[in-house]
Amino acid sequence: MSAIVDKASRATSMRTHTCGQLRPGDVGATVMLSGWVNSYRDHGTGLVFIDLRDRDGLTQVVFDLEDASQDLLDAADKLRSEDVVRVEGTVRVRDGGPNKKLETGEIEVVAQTITVLAKSDTPPFQPSDTSSLPNEEMRLKYRYLDLRRDEMQRMLKTRHRVTKVARDYFDEHGFLEVETPILCKSTPEGARDFLVPSRLSPGGWYALPQSPQLFKQILMVAGADRYMQITKCFRDEDLRADRQPEFSQIDLEMSFVSREDVMTMMEGFVRRLWKDVLGYDVPEMQRMSYSEALDRFGIDRPDLRFGLELVDISDLAAKTDFKVFTGALEKRKGCVKAIRVPGGASKLTRKLTDGYTEFVKQFGAGGVPVAKVGADGLETGIARFVESIAPELIERLGAEEGDTILFGADSYATCTRALGELRIKVAKDLDLIDPNKWAFLWVQDFPMFEYDEESKRFYSMHHPFTGPSADQLEKFLGADPSDRDTLEGIVSDGYDIVVNGSEIGGGSIRIHRQDVQKKVFQLLGISEEEAEAKFSFLLDALRFGAPPHGGVAFGLDRVVMHLAGTDNIRDVIAFPKTQTGSDVMCEAPNEVDAEQLAELFVANVGVPEPTAS
Ligand code: AMO
Repeated sequence: MSAIVDKASRATSMRTHTCGQLRPGDVGATVMLSGWVNSYRDHGTGLVFIDLRDRDGLTQVVFDLEDASQDLLDAADKLRSEDVVRVEGTVRVRDGGPNKKLETGEIEVVAQTITVLAKSDTPPFQPSDTSSLPNEEMRLKYRYLDLRRDEMQRMLKTRHRVTKVARDYFDEHGFLEVETPILCKSTPEGARDFLVPSRLSPGGWYALPQSPQLFKQILMVAGADRYMQITKCFRDEDLRADRQPEFSQIDLEMSFVSREDVMTMMEGFVRRLWKDVLGYDVPEMQRMSYSEALDRFGIDRPDLRFGLELVDISDLAAKTDFKVFTGALEKRKGCVKAIRVPGGASKLTRKLTDGYTEFVKQFGAGGVPVAKVGADGLETGIARFVESIAPELIERLGAEEGDTILFGADSYATCTRALGELRIKVAKDLDLIDPNKWAFLWVQDFPMFEYDEESKRFYSMHHPFTGPSADQLEKFLGADPSDRDTLEGIVSDGYDIVVNGSEIGGGSIRIHRQDVQKKVFQLLGISEEEAEAKFSFLLDALRFGAPPHGGVAFGLDRVVMHLAGTDNIRDVIAFPKTQTGSDVMCEAPNEVDAEQLAELFVANVGVPEPTAS
């Protein structure tokens, strides 16, 4: 990565150069460097070395015991790791040949004076130690030490780079950066809100934004035309490796656009980003409908870097007497699907396939029936139950001797979900994912609504401000809230951008008509009073001339994760939260004084005793 941030001269009254800057052209120059003592070496050869470190890199500093003054030697002798010092000296060609691992490895600085600017206690771990990492809790508690590590500096720089490219690209395309409030009203993005009590409006609460969704739409009504913001979003949800309660979005909205306009603009951004940061040319992105993604990959964010596609074999399964298959087909939208694992017979051990049965249970499936392909058809596992369909099955899957077939049989939703997750697990187990590949795609034509069996109601697949696809408008406006089949068939104008199986952004063409917006609320079971109480400002705005508009939000943290090559979201956030949502450095969340609560009109009802599980 060529470094935007490192181009500027950063000379100050305490340094002439940074610790990553000096090169053979500087030999003979008198320089002043300031930084941290990365390491200290006294080989007993009459020379003492320190590596001085700052954000830019390391420079070797030498104290020649023969020539140095006693003061200098005393100072050098007292130096310890992580002390902050200023060194003045002369640049010379490195004695003993270049150190190829360092960018400054061809030179060294012979110290004439050294000033200790700050002493350091013995740190709980050494930022200079690249061989072992302390546990993450320790890294987060002493985040300032962790961030001193070269790897973490690289993360900070990559993130800076991404936000810089975003601002440049969208500025060049006429977007205005506008800030929207953090203390605001609940925006439904599907998570719980973080709430803030108001002192000035007793009993009133703000919600922290789950996204700036409604504000950016209102900015379109306000004539802003093209909006961008790099902003914090807050969602009180269960955390995963790519989820934080407080995360950032590159948030965008455009007026007078079709889906195509938005996607083209965003594709241009992604192309620019990958080129700029990694030198990679992103090819034209393929489009896939939500239903195709689910049918073939069992997930709405498919990882296209490997095969193992799901193949529907419901029609063949119906010809057998195998209870697992026939039972599944009797369910509402029941189906039977299969995955062919090339060479699986030798690669997938019994232990692995037994583990798969346990694995899919967490997604509601009963197990994973298995069969191997032998010279004369199917063998082992469920082979004898599906003997009658074996030739057709083998042909449909394109299976060959030595392959393994994994089956899923359940309702469509459970079967696809379980096999979709299993597909990824098998690919990881068999090392089928090429980490150097990039597989981008747009997933589109999402159903507008998703039915939740538990609460027996519909939810928006994206959010309730996503419009129906233009050709579905009539069907949508005429739909009855109790007509589940029709509602499940309505396709929205939403789209997600996916890379390597991770959703890095999502958006839609919005509803800009008040009647359409009201209809969505009706279909979601949101009463007129509730809609009025929650979103009257949006419904009002839609009455006063709203331009057709649409947009996207990229998950900034996830984009940086990909570009920086980490699968831990906490690595790309300077001060992240742990899995339990705490900041272990600041020790937040913490208890507050009773007076502070009283001032906010909040009563402390106490914390329930943990129940034995
Ligand atoms: P959505 O909810 O899909 O859309 O969010 C957009 C993108 O934000 C990222 N993301 C997250 N990243 C880290 N931690 C989280 N908890 C988290 N949640 C989401 C994902 C996701 O693709 N207002 C709409 C956008 C729009 O319609 O324009 C929205 O927020 O990468």
